[in-house]
Amino acid sequence: MRRIPRVRTFALAALLSASAVCRAYAGSPSMQEFTQIERGRYLSILSDCAGCHTVPGGKPFSGGRPIETPFGNIISPNVTPDLETGIGAWSDDQFDAAVRKGIGRTGAHIYPAMPYNAYTRMSRDDVMAIRAYLNSLEPVRQSRNANTLPFPFNIRSAMSVWNALYFTAGEFKPDPTKSAEWNRGKFIVEGPAHCGACHTPKTLLGGDRADQYLQGANLQGWSAPDITNNRRTGLGSWTAEDVALYLKTGHNRAAAATGPMAEAVELSTSRMRDEDTKAIATYLKSLPGNTDQAGPAAVDANVMAAGGAIFRDQCSACHGIEGKGVPHLFPALAESTMVHSNDPTTAIRMVLRGARSVGTKAEPTAPGMPSYGWQLDDRQIAAVLSFVRNSWGGAAAPIDAAEVTRVRSDTALRND
Ligand code: HEC
Ligand code: HEC
Ligand code: HEC
Repeated sequence: MRRIPRVRTFALAALLSASAVCRAYAGSPSMQEFTQIERGRYLSILSDCAGCHTVPGGKPFSGGRPIETPFGNIISPNVTPDLETGIGAWSDDQFDAAVRKGIGRTGAHIYPAMPYNAYTRMSRDDVMAIRAYLNSLEPVRQSRNANTLPFPFNIRSAMSVWNALYFTAGEFKPDPTKSAEWNRGKFIVEGPAHCGACHTPKTLLGGDRADQYLQGANLQGWSAPDITNNRRTGLGSWTAEDVALYLKTGHNRAAAATGPMAEAVELSTSRMRDEDTKAIATYLKSLPGNTDQAGPAAVDANVMAAGGAIFRDQCSACHGIEGKGVPHLFPALAESTMVHSNDPTTAIRMVLRGARSVGTKAEPTAPGMPSYGWQLDDRQIAAVLSFVRNSWGGAAAPIDAAEVTRVRSDTALRND
């Protein structure tokens, strides 16, 4: 639900680091206040508030970023403590209602492009800590432009119908039969980190399909893969360490984060504490996913032969003839859930346009994937990806040239 920025500000990175809080509060006598602000800073990282509320290159948290939804763009507001254009004059109750219930200051509904349906799992204390952190920042004076939603989605009251269908308010309740680590992971995934906003399939109205929780979804010209532990379409072949490493560094032996996930890694997961990325991994690895989906039909032998030839010629130098790649440099396509995803949009897009993965503190240099859109036609790209999806023990529906054509024209319209 957001645009993919290519530029990241140094200011934003600095702001999200603890030292900025120390600087902001240097000289403040109240240790208690400092502890709360520091807790709020960390919760805002788990929640990635800065991602949506900052224009790439602009002043952190001052809003103005268009958040792309299937119904139109929604401009994010200014949440710095400016009294007139920000949240400076809001009461604590108003702030809490906005973040956890989707009710704006005037009582009107907030659009679910702001993930209040996930943030509702946080406690009021959590949200007050986030507010304390935001209040410690410099106020920025900046009003927002009008939204561009089409009728009927431009009527805020329509959101009460949406809420009735898709929103369940309420704090996270730990499951006493599960470990503390599992519960922490579930809280972060469902609550602040709102992983389902991108990874859970949506209804036509943009609500979560709860029965397909985290089983992969399409957004902004990308597909976010199944991140349950499903063996064929999900993270089944990844260890918990693989998952945690991916979240921490943006890479592991199987995959590299790009597009909206690169942003989530850069601003949020790579800045999480190690025990939190581990907790997320433990929780995701416990989800069976959809175990009764039928396996795909066998792929035409001619397509496999043509795709195999292109793979050897064009791809194997980096990804390896056995699809094993080179750890942390070139993804092991054999083990990538994205490659085997029911929705191949991201894989197609990456072959067409190439990709440069995220650089993180742990792994600053990001290797690049060349673009083949000008070199291979739609049938050839369909063939090589059908081959990759059905080799080295993998099985996934073949890709049709028409799907490549669709992604080619869809991504041509976007300049991100
Ligand atoms: C996925 C993008 C996204 C994320 C992440 C996000 N927001 Fe928002 N937020 C929005 C959008 C878009 C709106 C405006 C919605 C509308 O106009 O109805 C909004 C509205 C708000 C408002 C209401 C402000 C006003 O002037 O009406 C507050 C307060 C707010 N967000 C705080 C937060 C906090 C705190 C976090 C992190 C815990 C956060 N947001 C994370 C997109 C996001
Ligand atoms: C803003 C949307 C967005 C959010 C939020 C998001 N993801 Fe993703 N994620 C994606 C997209 C798109 C991809 C596919 C692109 C890629 O693999 O680089 C992806 C890929 C992944 C992958 C890699 C799978 C593979 O085989 O390549 C994992 C694991 C993952 N996400 C986990 C998470 C977790 C855990 C969270 C919450 C902490 C999360 N994501 C939040 C959009 C998102
Ligand atoms: C010069 C080395 C190189 C060559 C040649 C290459 N790739 Fe890649 N590929 C990469 C790198 C690096 C990434 C990770 C980049 C990222 O995710 O941003 C990647 C990522 C991918 C991914 C996404 C995997 C995931 O889960 O993140 C797919 C699919 C892919 N390549 C397919 C291909 C195909 C098909 C070919 C041949 C037509 C090919 N690549 C040729 C380097 C290469």
